[in-house]
Amino acid sequence: MTFDLFDSLPQLDPPHAEPLVPGATVLRGFARAHEQALLAAVREVAARAPWRHLITPGGQRMSVAMTNCGRFGWVSDASGYRYEPADPLGGAPWPPMPASFLALARAAAAEAGFAGFSPDACLLNRYLPGTRLSLHQDRDELDLRAPIVSVSLGLPAVFLFGGLRRADPCQRVRLAHGDVVVWGGPARLAFHGIAPLADGDHPLTGRERINLTLRKTR
Ligand code: SIN
Ligand code: FE2
Repeated sequence: MTFDLFDSLPQLDPPHAEPLVPGATVLRGFARAHEQALLAAVREVAARAPWRHLITPGGQRMSVAMTNCGRFGWVSDASGYRYEPADPLGGAPWPPMPASFLALARAAAAEAGFAGFSPDACLLNRYLPGTRLSLHQDRDELDLRAPIVSVSLGLPAVFLFGGLRRADPCQRVRLAHGDVVVWGGPARLAFHGIAPLADGDHPLTGRERINLTLRKTR
């Protein structure tokens, strides 16, 4: 067999946009060029505001581990879901939004047709094999004109993307490392979730999937 330089390079598809429904787009591979900076920033955020399993208002421990950065962080406890300016674990402000998160989110939003996105919150989700996130809407933000930008890193997942009613049928969209989903406008309140994560071993994250969800809360 002859040695071909191109065979030895990782298979990187050029980034491309894939419409889901009006207002929602998957930007394939959009974050991949920034994977090292993004994952280093995830580790820095988690060193200051550790991963934790929040309790739903109904008393269930969430299987996804979460933390936050930015001016506001999403929290859940017995009294409900809300955004808080400080980490309830310790009371310090959430770590600042890393420049790499902000730049990526702004570029992805603009690419998907939402120029001028300025997120003030980033929820970080960590999934291990078997972890799922049940269908929900992102509706704790006061400003629903701004889109949601969601970045996938590490193990692939099946993203469930439905309609404006919980019972609407869901598309099952495979999200791989580096994919970014943007939803806003008519899709802003679409129900969505993550199917139980399949086991695997990613070269950069091992047996984990990390998701960054950037929002403008107010
Ligand atoms: C979320 O809806 O907060 C997370 C979605 C994902 O993990 O891709
Ligand atoms: Fe969500």
